[in-house]
Amino acid sequence: MIRLFPIFIVLCWWVEARAAELYHEQFRPQFHFTPATNWMNDPNGMVFYDGEYHLFYQFNPFGNKWGHMSWGHSVSPDLVHWEHLPVALYEENDVMIFSGSAVVDWKNTSGFGQNGKPPLVAIYTGHYTKKPLQNQNIAYSNDRGRTWVKYANNPALDIGEKDFRDPKVSWHEASKRWIMTVSWPVHHQVRFYASTNLKEWTHLSDFGPAGSTQGIWECPDLFPLKNGRGTKWVLVVNVGSGAPAGGSGCQYFVGDFDGSKFTLDSSFPTGKDAALWADYGRDFYAAVSWSDVPKRDGRRLWLGWMSNWEYANDVPTSPWRSAMSVPRELTLRKTPEGLRMVQQPVEELRKLRGAHHRLGNASFSRASNWLAGRELKSELLEMEMDFTVEKSSGDFGIKIASGANEETVVRLSKDGRLSLDRTQSGRTDFHRKFPGVHEAKLSVRNGVASLHLFLDTSSIEVFANEGEAVLTDLILPTGDKRKLELISNEQAPRVMQIHLWELKSAWK
Ligand code: FRU
Repeated sequence: MIRLFPIFIVLCWWVEARAAELYHEQFRPQFHFTPATNWMNDPNGMVFYDGEYHLFYQFNPFGNKWGHMSWGHSVSPDLVHWEHLPVALYEENDVMIFSGSAVVDWKNTSGFGQNGKPPLVAIYTGHYTKKPLQNQNIAYSNDRGRTWVKYANNPALDIGEKDFRDPKVSWHEASKRWIMTVSWPVHHQVRFYASTNLKEWTHLSDFGPAGSTQGIWECPDLFPLKNGRGTKWVLVVNVGSGAPAGGSGCQYFVGDFDGSKFTLDSSFPTGKDAALWADYGRDFYAAVSWSDVPKRDGRRLWLGWMSNWEYANDVPTSPWRSAMSVPRELTLRKTPEGLRMVQQPVEELRKLRGAHHRLGNASFSRASNWLAGRELKSELLEMEMDFTVEKSSGDFGIKIASGANEETVVRLSKDGRLSLDRTQSGRTDFHRKFPGVHEAKLSVRNGVASLHLFLDTSSIEVFANEGEAVLTDLILPTGDKRKLELISNEQAPRVMQIHLWELKSAWK
């Protein structure tokens, strides 16, 4: 025993040293979800059960490029701190496990439950590697998602199509049945199916083509959101290409769902490819929402894959590749243009706040000097800034510099554009389509413009005017310290206030 002691000490040291390295690699996000190693894409099977948010995700157990798709798995009590769990569903018999959803089968409609407890049921696409076929399959768990059994009579829904995927299932209380929203990618359509037991599905209706149809339709979602005293339904459709910043992106439709059919609201913009976008950055895709968030909480929560199919496989990070966005809360807002979905970072993220720097009402130049004088110990930052904008105000914004030559610029132009420039943001050379300037329209109402920023080691998320316009971009700065600088041309607006927080890592 005594003789084994030194070996034990060395082993402890080795495990600790490795843990210290892992999660401290260059570009490793510190408060965005990443798998410890290997490739990740879409979030899958997001469900809340028994105090845990589950996040499954498209995962390659064998490397850090896309392939051998399986469902990786992690859980969190608070959407901020994640625990990695073993792979939940593996590729098997030449069938990859593509994207899908999970639900708590509260009434045990499937019969998979045991001992009076509801099972978790996952509904995913089986992608056949030896023939041109995709169909919908189910699997269940009776141990809080720790182990899964694939249903013996899979597939549960097969229409013999090569492209038919990403089922999102939810319980429709009014008609007391399950609704599956699933995408028919090359037709630019979403199909709706109904079931009373999750095992047999009946076709209800189709929606589309509509909105953006340049790229294939993938990863849909359908959920109700409060609209004053009433309810509206949001249909989310991620598109493989043709998003405003280029490549893949996330569009949505606002309308009504009567239990069988989705009808678009009359305020939907018209014209070819006119569409509503959840995010105007380059790196927000395959976003879908959590199922079974408790009623007393009542939020609609989601996150997206923070990458873009145009270069995802080339982003220079190792031994992992890809991160998720921060979790966000979704609500509807009445705007002069019609009903729009807005996104706000979940309030749980406040747990990460460390040192706080605050400036009250100040001129732009005083605020600029104040900001430049901050000694920041952390490169992980959250910022809230409110500006009083007048007709005479020119363009203004913030420059986030790192090292001597690297900068990312967020700018509000007086013609109502919010832009994010990552052309000089650090490593941009790994793909010719990575550098660029990405833009959203932003109307300034009541003379106030607000910016809420999250900066991790390798990403920036901008929520403008309480989430009315959102831009999510990867950035890969190589310089060590971050410097913040307010910038303006012509007449600068007044700064109402600035809150700046240095954030803690979520992995400690
Ligand atoms: C979207 C997607 C899905 C598919 C999965 C495969 O990013 O193409 O349609 O299920 O990725 O990994």
